[in-house]
Amino acid sequence: MKTIIYYFTGTGNSLAAARRIAGILGDCELVPVASLAGVNERIKPEAERVGIVCPVYDMGIPLVVNEFAQRLDVSGAKYCFGVVTMGGAGKSALHILTGILEKNCGKGLDSGFAVRMPANFPPLFKPPQGEKRDKILRAAETAIDRIAEKIIAGSRDYPSFTPVSSLFRVLTYGKFVDEVRGYDREFFVKDNCNSCSTCSEVCPVGNITIKNGKPEWGHNCEMCFACLHFCPKEAIEWGSRTEGRGRYIHPGLKVSDMKAQRAAEDKNGQEI
Ligand SMILES: Cc1cc2nc3c(=O)[nH]c(=O)nc-3n(C[C@H](O)[C@H](O)[C@H](O)COP(=O)(O)O)c2cc1C
Repeated sequence: MKTIIYYFTGTGNSLAAARRIAGILGDCELVPVASLAGVNERIKPEAERVGIVCPVYDMGIPLVVNEFAQRLDVSGAKYCFGVVTMGGAGKSALHILTGILEKNCGKGLDSGFAVRMPANFPPLFKPPQGEKRDKILRAAETAIDRIAEKIIAGSRDYPSFTPVSSLFRVLTYGKFVDEVRGYDREFFVKDNCNSCSTCSEVCPVGNITIKNGKPEWGHNCEMCFACLHFCPKEAIEWGSRTEGRGRYIHPGLKVSDMKAQRAAEDKNGQEI
């Protein structure tokens, strides 16, 4: 059965999950959601099975995925699944995703899964390091393998009631959607920036340009924190709460993986 998996990632967890599922399913195409950000027409995947894999942001889904889901028509698919990766809690993100799909095309998720992976939100938490991080990643791999088996079996697994994350979602997600694109106003670069432009290269939505050797954020931010985590000098901070908090990138993630997410015209068109 042919499968298309649409994914978005900031620090590699969701891409690692999508790749692992694809490897187990076989005959699977991976499509970056961000590469379709400029597409206005409806997207009708030509596959019997369709998946969406992305991180949980503020108990919901990244805005770029939210907007993509509004254009995605899965009514022709036999089976549609969602997988969200999260630092701790956020199954409510699956409710948001299925709600958007149902409203848009009359068919939601047949199954939805949440996987705990290392948290990448340094304003609130120090990302796990060393053995702690590796333990979470090993457990995630086991969980993802089980998810892939369930997908193959066509199971109807879906989190019915998620009181804690749903409550937080109601409190936080609306504000996130309204304001996220401008949250990059809090990013700044310190004097130890060596103008390597990695931040600009890894931004999955092409939001960073290098001017006079320093990054400038263009207020089209997804808050994925790739720029901050990838900076080899740890020269990028967000507000006053990320200094000394440590950084996280999934061990399998490369700069080229991040570039591959971008829309075709954007990959060449950035000013450096
Ligand atoms: C802006 C932002 C908001 C987040 N919100 C949540 C959240 O509500 N619940 C949670 O468990 N993790 C949250 N996280 C952590 C990520 O969901 C988690 O680390 C995810 O696996 C990152 O996936 P990625 O590496 O594919 O970007 C958040 C991370 C970011 C950057």
